[in-house]
Amino acid sequence: MADYTLLSKTIAALTEGETDEVALMATVACELHHADDRFDWTGFYRVTEPRLLKIGPYQGGHGCLVIPFDRGVCGAAARTGQVQLVPDVDAFPGHIACASSTRSEIVLPVWDKQGALIAVLDIDSDKPAAFTDEDASALQQILSETFSR
Ligand code: SME
Repeated sequence: MADYTLLSKTIAALTEGETDEVALMATVACELHHADDRFDWTGFYRVTEPRLLKIGPYQGGHGCLVIPFDRGVCGAAARTGQVQLVPDVDAFPGHIACASSTRSEIVLPVWDKQGALIAVLDIDSDKPAAFTDEDASALQQILSETFSR
C-alpha cells in the first residue's frame, strides 16, 4: 500500500502556493501513480459543463475523453458525490472499460474550497478488489488538502 503520509507531504511540498487546478491535477496524478503498483491508471475527469466530465491529467494508457454523469463509475461518483469503491468492475452496471485489463477501480469526487464539484479522481487496477476503505480515506484527505485549501 502507498505511504499516504509521505505522499501527502510530498504533494504539499510540490504544490505549495499553486492554485492552477490542472497543474495540481497533473502533480497529484503523477505522484499517486508512481507510488503504488496497484495503480495501473491514475487520472482526473474534470467537470467542464453541467453533468459532463472530460479527461484531465492522467498517467497510464489512453483514457476515454468524455463521460456524462449518467455513465460509468466516474459518472456515478460525480452524480452522487460519493466515493465509488468497485472490487469487480465487471459487476458494476455501466462500467466503462478503457482497458480490458482493469479488474477493480476507485473513483472519488474532487471538491474546491467553495464546495463545488470540479472533477473526479479515477484509479484503475489490474488486480481484483485492489482498493480498501483505508485507500478511500487517505485519498480523500490528499484531495481535500490539495483542492479545497
Ligand atoms: N472506468 C471509468 C472510465 C474511465 S477509464 O477507466 C480511464 C468509468 O467506468 O467511469
